[in-house]
Amino acid sequence: MKRWILILAILALPVAAEDTRQFAKLTPQAQETLRQEMLDNLLAVNSIITMLAANQVKEAGEVAEKELGRGAMGKNAHLPFEARPGPQMPRDMHQLAISGHFAASDFANIAKSGDREKALSALPAVMGTCIACHASYRTR
Ligand code: HEC
Repeated sequence: MKRWILILAILALPVAAEDTRQFAKLTPQAQETLRQEMLDNLLAVNSIITMLAANQVKEAGEVAEKELGRGAMGKNAHLPFEARPGPQMPRDMHQLAISGHFAASDFANIAKSGDREKALSALPAVMGTCIACHASYRTR
């Protein structure tokens, strides 16, 4: 009886769906840069949401500009080419990365007003670029 339950449980496991995202071939060094940047991105998003919840709207905008916005662009320029993810990305992927920076700066500009409702309404555009890139591209 128990064995049947085990077999049923195994049959019920979802089959891993095929990953149809476009493969972006980055050097291992660039992947490492990207991964660290991504962990920082997640931290930044969390800070922004935490600050919005605490009604620290302007501060949320400052974090967005510095960590995700135009202010965060080009920060890998000093690295050797093989460690820079941006220029190794397919053009459309790189374009998504750039529009993510712009969306974060748009959010930051709106947050300067201190108006939380307006700032909140500009946040989905920022998250949208995270989602769009993750849904379309893989590096492994
Ligand atoms: C231009 C494409 C792109 C954009 C935009 C993007 N990501 Fe990523 N992200 C990636 C790729 C590619 C990986 C996988 C990196 C790898 O493991 O090689 C990744 C991985 C991650 C990871 C996992 C890191 C780990 O430990 O493996 C997190 C977390 C993450 N992204 C958060 C974010 C957040 C938050 C945003 C938006 C603010 C964002 N990303 C925007 C491409 C992107």
